[in-house]
Amino acid sequence: MKLDAPLRGDLDPIETASRDELVALQIERLRWSLNHAYQNVAHYRRKFDAAGVHPHDLNELADLAKFPFTTKQDLRENYPFGMFAVPMSEVVRVHASSGTTGKPTVVGYTQGDIDMWADMMARSIRAAGGHRNDKVHVSYGYGLFTGGLGAHYGAERLGCTVIPMSGGQTEKQVQLIQDFEPDIIMVTPSYMLNIADEFERQGIDPRNCSLRIGIFGAEPWTDSMRLEIEERFGIDAIDIYGLSEVIGPGVANECIETKDGPHIWEDHFFPEIINPETGEVVPEGEEGELVFTSLTKEAMPVIRYRTRDITRLLPGSARTMRRMGKITGRSDDMLIIRGVNVFPSQIEEQILRVAGLSPHYVLEVYRERHLDSIDVLVEMRAEQSGASEATKSQAAKELQHHIKSYIGITTNVRVVETGAIERSQGKARRVIDKRPKS
Ligand code: DLL
Repeated sequence: MKLDAPLRGDLDPIETASRDELVALQIERLRWSLNHAYQNVAHYRRKFDAAGVHPHDLNELADLAKFPFTTKQDLRENYPFGMFAVPMSEVVRVHASSGTTGKPTVVGYTQGDIDMWADMMARSIRAAGGHRNDKVHVSYGYGLFTGGLGAHYGAERLGCTVIPMSGGQTEKQVQLIQDFEPDIIMVTPSYMLNIADEFERQGIDPRNCSLRIGIFGAEPWTDSMRLEIEERFGIDAIDIYGLSEVIGPGVANECIETKDGPHIWEDHFFPEIINPETGEVVPEGEEGELVFTSLTKEAMPVIRYRTRDITRLLPGSARTMRRMGKITGRSDDMLIIRGVNVFPSQIEEQILRVAGLSPHYVLEVYRERHLDSIDVLVEMRAEQSGASEATKSQAAKELQHHIKSYIGITTNVRVVETGAIERSQGKARRVIDKRPKS
């Protein structure tokens, strides 16, 4: 056994239970969750009734396919708290992530949910090779984003010492890693490469730092990126997956023993893979859209939530629970820029707030010093075609400011000549992705 592999005795019993034991627990919890959603959330009651299904109709796991899906649009229509299944007095925390337009998707947690989340994050850090007494440097953002606080509570739950650094201030990240000597870092993989560059800029070899393990997620990353990070820091790079609607980070995590894709913590989050076009469940092992049903969440149960992430389910390896393959894409147009989810429609909304700018725009996404960047190319309205450079630059500045303050990302806005943006012949092509493919 590798030195960093957790001892089997440290695992939750369900992590090594038989498949049959796991399925029995899933059925029992699924019945509870469907019933909880049906009894306490008007939206679910309406949807189940309209589809002619009732929680009693679930006899085996495959029966879940009879129940309707939940989408981001459903959460949006019930903004902000309409999907909650408990009174507000029992909700101890909310988080939020980007919706397809200005309004964020809101998620709520009871104290029980926060405890379950901390347990799943502690399990995730342990699967990654973390132990109690490790020092954990958290560079995921703290705030409405689930990354920072999710990692924080999980590391505390495992008995680690947490350094709640949050994102940004790259020089300081390096200083604190040098001075506090953490064993583990939790951060987006793209930002980790930026931290590597900063080490080198300061003339320090990152391989000499104290880090042993990195737990990376919140955005897609490839195995070649894993190798680069592992080589530059001399660490084990482990994949963590999650999404706010389901809980946040810690829905699935890779095990250090095998590094063969995140194990889904199936005792709390039940996965299905569907054909995104037809909604049919596909045979095990085939690629499609990942769908989750929460089994134990109290404040905001999600029933067949469509993640839009394209991947496949793989059999268990280091743990009984099934794994997910690398996410190969999304079935919607969401971009993830430095960990922030961005929909082109959100940018469009901001463009249309600026007088003089037309709805003809395109987003150019590219990679600069390992980080994803966006240029917004937008035309002036036809009636403004003779506008002065000063007017154009004023409009660009205004748009940049709106995007930064409403969406939270820095963009480079380029106001171009009328007619310069290719006109659509059908579906508009809003994104030109110039990032390398692997
Ligand atoms: O990104 C939660 C998280 C924080 C996960 C920190 C891991 C670490 P959202 O902001 O709601 O939540 O974004 C969720 O990010 O549907 C995927 O498209 C993408 N994503 C998350 N983890 C991974 C990963 C957080 N390991 C969306 N690989 C998801 C690829 C990922 N994509």
